[in-house]
Amino acid sequence: MTVRSSSEGILSDERADVREELIGMLKKAYFMEIETVMSYITNSINPDGVRAQEIIESLKTDIQEELGHAQEFASRIKELYGTVPGSMEFTPEQSYLQPPEQQTDIVHVIKGVIEAETGAIEHYNRIIEFTDEVDPVTNDMVIAILRDEEGHRRLFEGFLREYETEGLA
Ligand SMILES: [Fe+2]
Ligand SMILES: [Fe+2]
Repeated sequence: MTVRSSSEGILSDERADVREELIGMLKKAYFMEIETVMSYITNSINPDGVRAQEIIESLKTDIQEELGHAQEFASRIKELYGTVPGSMEFTPEQSYLQPPEQQTDIVHVIKGVIEAETGAIEHYNRIIEFTDEVDPVTNDMVIAILRDEEGHRRLFEGFLREYETEGLA
């Protein structure tokens, strides 16, 4: 029984403690994605001006990707015998992505997006490290998600560079 159980990897009984800790990390990731969806909807609607349009279009695309990430994290929580948390467990953290005073303040939005993506990149690197040789399925899933977040951040770093070059950031 012990042999059989350990061959079940992360789903085996003796891995219950590790699984528990991992589910905690996945719940945090799930809520980060949900809050990002909320913040990106806000910031894809509020901005005014000609220069805002590129940011708006980019965020609209990202919203769908972040929503997909949230669903992936939620599914993985269930597969690991956890329960996807309800909204009452949610605590907001993205103070930096609140609407700016002026809706033409695009730099505020760009910097906020970079901060959100950096937070995701840091947390997902932790999950990848934690699941290495422990849970290859979660490891693989989060590596793919990490690549999306790195792409998002790189794009917005490019936007910021343009404003910096013009002395606007
Ligand atoms: Fe995401
Ligand atoms: Fe992202």
